Amino acid sequence: MPGTRLDLDRIRAARRVIDPVFLDSPLYRCEPLERELGCRVSIKLETANPVRSFKGRGTELVVTGLAGRGERAAVCASAGNLGQALARSGRGRGIDVTVVASRFAPAAKLERIRALGAHLELVDGDFELARERAVALARERGVRLVEDSLDVETCEGAATIGLELVDAGPFDAVLIALGGGALATGVGHVLKTLAPGTEVIAIQPAGAPAMARSWRERRVVTTESADTIADGVAGRFPIPEVLDDLLLVADDAVLVREASIVAGMRLFLEHAGLVVEPSAALGLAAVLEDPARFAGQHVVTIVCGSNVDLPAYHRWLGLGD
Ligand SMILES: Cc1ncc(COP(=O)(O)O)c(C=O)c1O
Repeated sequence: MPGTRLDLDRIRAARRVIDPVFLDSPLYRCEPLERELGCRVSIKLETANPVRSFKGRGTELVVTGLAGRGERAAVCASAGNLGQALARSGRGRGIDVTVVASRFAPAAKLERIRALGAHLELVDGDFELARERAVALARERGVRLVEDSLDVETCEGAATIGLELVDAGPFDAVLIALGGGALATGVGHVLKTLAPGTEVIAIQPAGAPAMARSWRERRVVTTESADTIADGVAGRFPIPEVLDDLLLVADDAVLVREASIVAGMRLFLEHAGLVVEPSAALGLAAVLEDPARFAGQHVVTIVCGSNVDLPAYHRWLGLGD
């Protein structure tokens, strides 16, 4: 089980090279949220680390591999969180990191990428344009291009979250934000191998539905544009290899509305004391849109990022300045 590119022994071994600061993140029942949502809700808090997202788990593996081969530089495209994580992991191993990002990415993410010592190149377009530029830059320089979700280390790193969930389970369902797919395929692989009774539900915004639609149609579906506040999951061109894996490990791929994402962010703030970025609220948005589906179940939602621009956050939630 399940025939993906991932392997349980490699995922277990990954825990030994990932900086412990990213491992064993808090996991707890959140009763105030349960009262609001009508089901048992556990939070897996992947924001309680120096880059405030789960992406450090994968970049630690990537950089360990680079350093082991004596490579000194890497380039990646990023919506903002991978770039921070690669910058931090690279800094720790003396690897020169260049991140290509959209100039429309949240300023907080761009500032942190710079602060962590990476070179930042901005493109005048979305994440897919950043991806094209990163490919060209890596080729020009002859250095490693780190491709999120395609490079198996990024999936294996995320998969270590799955091991921690299995140890703490059982859960009826795990709610996973879906972007390029590293998180959903990694965690999904571990759950389908070790806890197959847990439903693996991947969630995307209806405004950026390419991967979820691809899962539903069992073929790559691209979109002309993406329109969502969930900047971490706003890709338009699914990667075929990642889709193949997702088809094997996800039980469902759900689309949610922007208003539900905002409502989820508000629930996290009011009932869990957590400021989260929009992508991290996709799981709660899915419960809000279909409470009957989850009634009485025990769900775990992965709180995958909290890098948010405060003015935008205030505006979305209608908070005063
Ligand atoms: C906060 C956050 N959530 C979810 C995702 C989606 O993860 P993946 O691209 O592994 O599907 C990302 C991707 O960068 C992210 O930053």
